[in-house]
Amino acid sequence: MAPSLLSADFRRLQEEVRRVEAAGADWLHVDVMDGHFVPNLTVGPLVVEALRGSTRLPLDVHLMIENPERYLGEFARAGASFLTVHAEACRHLHRVVHQIKEKGTRAGVAVNPATPPQVLEYLLGDVDLVLVMSVNPGFAGQTFIPAVLPKVRWLKRLAAEKGYGYELEVDGGINRATAADVIRSGASVLVAGSAVFGSGDVAEAITALRQAAVTRPSPGE
Ligand code: DX5
Ligand code: ZN
Repeated sequence: MAPSLLSADFRRLQEEVRRVEAAGADWLHVDVMDGHFVPNLTVGPLVVEALRGSTRLPLDVHLMIENPERYLGEFARAGASFLTVHAEACRHLHRVVHQIKEKGTRAGVAVNPATPPQVLEYLLGDVDLVLVMSVNPGFAGQTFIPAVLPKVRWLKRLAAEKGYGYELEVDGGINRATAADVIRSGASVLVAGSAVFGSGDVAEAITALRQAAVTRPSPGE
C-alpha cells in the first residue's frame, strides 16, 4: 500500500505522513507534476527532502515531468527511494533508467493508459519497478480504467517467465471496488490517494483496501 500524498491536507503534511505511517502504509507515493507532461503542478525536491526528514517509509517518487533526466540528481539527493519516469516523457528511456541507478536510487518506469507495456520489454531486466497508470495522470480522484488490467497481467507473466524482480505498481482510481481485480491481475503495490486521505479514518481506509485487495472472487465469478 502506497498512499499518494496528492490527496493529503498540505496544511499539515507532516501529520498526514505520520498518520499513514502509523496506519501501516508500506511506502509513501509522491506525485511530481510539471504543468507540461500533465496539466497540473505539484511539488519538487524541496518537499521530497522535507518528507525524508519526517518519515522512515520509502519515498516512491512518481515523476510526471518532461525531461526528467534534468532533475534526477536533485530528487536523489533529496532522499527519494524510487524514482519513476514516464516512458512517454523520455526519448532515451534506457539511458535515463541507468542514470537513476547510478545515483544510487531504485529505478521505475511508468506507462500511461494509452501506452502498450511492450515498449518497456527491452529494459524490464534493468528496472526495480513498473508503474501502470490506471487513469490519465494529472489529478487524484479519477475513475479507474479497467482496460489497463491486461497490461498488468502481461507484465506479471513476463516477470515470472524471465525471472524479473520488479515491483508491479498500479496507480489511479484504486478503491475498495477496484483493488481486488488489480491484485488478481498481478500487481504488488497499490497507490491510493483519495481512497485513503479522502476518508475520515486513514487507518480504517488502509485496512479496508488491504482486505478488499485479497478478497477471493465468489464462486461462479
Ligand atoms: C495521478 C497520480 C496518482 C493520484 C492517485 O496522476 O499519479 O498517484 O494521486 O489518486 P487517486 O487514488 O485518487 O486516483
Ligand atoms: Zn502517482
